[in-house]
Amino acid sequence: MKRCFLFAAFTLVCFFNAPVLADAPIVIKFSHVVAKDTPKGKAAEKFKALAEAATKGRVKIELYPNSTLYKDKEELEALQLGAVQMLAPSLAKFGPLGVKEFELFDLPFIFNDKQALYRVTQGPIGQDMLKKLESKGIRGLAYWDNGFKMMTSNRPMRVPADMKGLKLRIQSSKVLDEQMRALGANPQVMAFSEVYQAMQTGVVDGSENPPSNIFTQKMHEVQKHLTVTNHGYIGYAVIVNKKFWDKLPADIRTQLEAAMKEATDYANNIAQQENDQALENIRKSGKTVIYVPTDAERAEWRKVLVPVHKAMEERIGKELIASVNKATAAK
Ligand code: LMR
Repeated sequence: MKRCFLFAAFTLVCFFNAPVLADAPIVIKFSHVVAKDTPKGKAAEKFKALAEAATKGRVKIELYPNSTLYKDKEELEALQLGAVQMLAPSLAKFGPLGVKEFELFDLPFIFNDKQALYRVTQGPIGQDMLKKLESKGIRGLAYWDNGFKMMTSNRPMRVPADMKGLKLRIQSSKVLDEQMRALGANPQVMAFSEVYQAMQTGVVDGSENPPSNIFTQKMHEVQKHLTVTNHGYIGYAVIVNKKFWDKLPADIRTQLEAAMKEATDYANNIAQQENDQALENIRKSGKTVIYVPTDAERAEWRKVLVPVHKAMEERIGKELIASVNKATAAK
């Protein structure tokens, strides 16, 4: 009798809960490796707010910043497996996935300024590159900006010759490997989440990143010198698991695309200011000496690093590099 009652009660609970379950929100897990207080971290928060408001709670965005869920390499695997639905990896991290063309963004001094960059990311070249991800089960939604990279180490670095022999952490890009070798340094691929400790313990002598990443990871506390080389670029591709995205109800997808467009404008608007502020914060900390190369020194950096374009032609594609040069030369 008691059993019958329990069974009936259980059936009733299931019955009344069924509509609730059917209305459960679609969850998008968005994992990334940087701090909340960075251009990418803030843009992810913006996207969450816009997407949840536009879909009136039918979509819930769960943010996992600072490698709390996955590190660099793992997060791409997790996306392909469907364990997370959205990421925004740096463009330097797509090589191991088999999409080597993205490493063109790592070529030193390929973009003189953000306007030149946007002619690529917001033009046909950028869109064609996102399409290359489809065969990997990934859909590219947008490019988000960060900024130009600066060198850090415990040694003053005025000219390229000062880099000789330094052990430098790099992202998993063959172009970055070649770039560091051109400087006579020893590159070491390492996940972003491990860099601070590697610097602190002397596993590496230094690295390269925009100030927003250097400051928020506290790298300036374990690096005595920073040189404003602006020798390369770091930006992101916002990507989703293609199967998941294609299966979303059409109205939801449209709302999410609109939210992404607005979050992208926001990301690209705040990136420069965030990096300027971070550089100022590093300066104010008094822990790192900031050096701005003279014009003559800057010419030396270019002279040593621009030949990397030729050396990497075969990997990235001669025609692709030529078309980028053509697009960036346009006014
Ligand atoms: C890195 O150095 O790995 C960074 O580019 C991480 C990031 O996402 O900005």
